[in-house]
Amino acid sequence: MVNIQVPTIKLNNGAGMPQVGLGLWKVDKGTCADVVYNAIKEGYRLFDGACDYGNETEAGQGVARAIKEGLVTRSELFIISKLWNSFHDAERVEPIVRKQLGDWGIDYFDLYYIHFPVSLQYVDPSVRYPPGWYMDGARKEVVRGKATLQGTWGAMEALVGAGLAKSIGISNYNGALVLDLLAYARIVPQVLQIEHHPYLTQAPLLELCRREGIAVTGYSSFGPQSFLDLGMKFAEDFQALFSHPVVVAVAEKHGRTPAQVLLRWNTQRGVAVIPKSSSLERLRQNLDVCSFDLSEQELKDISALDCGFRFNNPLNYGIPVYNFV
Ligand SMILES: NC(=O)c1ccc[n+]([C@@H]2O[C@H](COP(=O)([O-])OP(=O)(O)OC[C@H]3O[C@@H](n4cnc5c(N)ncnc54)[C@H](OP(=O)(O)O)[C@@H]3O)[C@@H](O)[C@H]2O)c1
Repeated sequence: MVNIQVPTIKLNNGAGMPQVGLGLWKVDKGTCADVVYNAIKEGYRLFDGACDYGNETEAGQGVARAIKEGLVTRSELFIISKLWNSFHDAERVEPIVRKQLGDWGIDYFDLYYIHFPVSLQYVDPSVRYPPGWYMDGARKEVVRGKATLQGTWGAMEALVGAGLAKSIGISNYNGALVLDLLAYARIVPQVLQIEHHPYLTQAPLLELCRREGIAVTGYSSFGPQSFLDLGMKFAEDFQALFSHPVVVAVAEKHGRTPAQVLLRWNTQRGVAVIPKSSSLERLRQNLDVCSFDLSEQELKDISALDCGFRFNNPLNYGIPVYNFV
């Protein structure tokens, strides 16, 4: 087992969250159990899953194997999942969380997020699971639901009381939605998860969260990379961050890879990261991202790449395919 020190972020309820973890989006079902098991062996403790990733059962198998072999205990792990858009109606929340916990083979989540501030029509898990964005095989029809975010948040708060989630969070909320939530929340979210990379630095939102005591986790830390994997053409219009001259120059200076520099840029901004990798070598690299420091100037140079571009924008799943009925 590798001994890499990962800092812990103290959440507003006193819980500790590792600042570096493994994202599970697009981790293939067939390899997911091994990826999670190997990641635990490498020292990963935080796993960022979701109903929508379609691999919670397999991720849970990796966890179970590691626990069975005595590599780790459940309480040493920080397991995260998310509420999919089709389950926003308050009465749907607890049943789907119980199903997801069953898939993982655990009895609580360390953190459970609202995945998107978008309510879609309910889909019974026996009909299609995970439901995804589209109601039809032609990937054209997105049918909106009627749940309000306030109602959904009330059901999220109830999960804490029921012992099903230790912490609760929100994802893909902008500043206005965070402010709105703060007006009615009985539990201030512990974490906001957002897209965050040098092309989308989100400085005002980070500052709002800092003031309100909400920790921030950044996803898609490598910018366009994750969206190239999906074949999204617009991602090709961007200079890959791994070969961007600014990032490469900093990496060479520190004797690190561009990926490590991008992750360190995040963590020095106080943001937690959850890079996804299915490669053992890259899993190792991505965990070791807090043992060197970028200078203020290097941080500024990387932040100056900001162009406010959001790769993961629900409207891109939409226009022209959104067809609200
Ligand atoms: N809340 C949300 O709506 C939301 C949205 C998106 C993502 N997320 C979460 O955030 C996690 C991370 O984001 P992401 O999956 O979009 O993308 P990401 O971590 O930015 O990028 C993943 C891509 O980078 C490659 N990669 C990983 N480490 C590398 C390294 N050291 N050097 C070179 N290439 C490397 C991976 O390939 P290999 O696998 O081949 O290494 C993969 O192609 C997700 O898995 C998910 O848990 C949440």
